[in-house]
Amino acid sequence: MSIDKAEKEKLGFTHCEAGKLLAEQWHVPPDLAEVIEFHHSIQSATNARALVSLVHLSDLLCRVRDLGYGYYEVMGIDFAGDSAWAALVEAYPKLEDIDLARLSLDIEGAMGEVVALVDAVFSVKT
Ligand SMILES: [Fe+2]
Repeated sequence: MSIDKAEKEKLGFTHCEAGKLLAEQWHVPPDLAEVIEFHHSIQSATNARALVSLVHLSDLLCRVRDLGYGYYEVMGIDFAGDSAWAALVEAYPKLEDIDLARLSLDIEGAMGEVVALVDAVFSVKT
């Protein structure tokens, strides 16, 4: 079950819906508010679709590498087939030249550093 579906079923709302309310209360800049609200539904983004797409893909990378927090999910990524990648390429046509297989290898090679960074940022010292 996806995190969104589980949230909706158990809580009655998703983290995107809760984030939207907080963004409004905190007067977050519109582009960031759009990212918060639509990073799992990029087709709904209107003004900041490229940024929303970038965060969506980053979120997928984190989740597939088990860098999510508080839950576990089984999933894979198909960058080339993801509508967020298509939206990024539409906004930045030079991205079409990127070798996604090579990019995946580069990301894989950097995962040790990424995990160490994430652990350093999010670990709680008691
Ligand atoms: Fe999310």
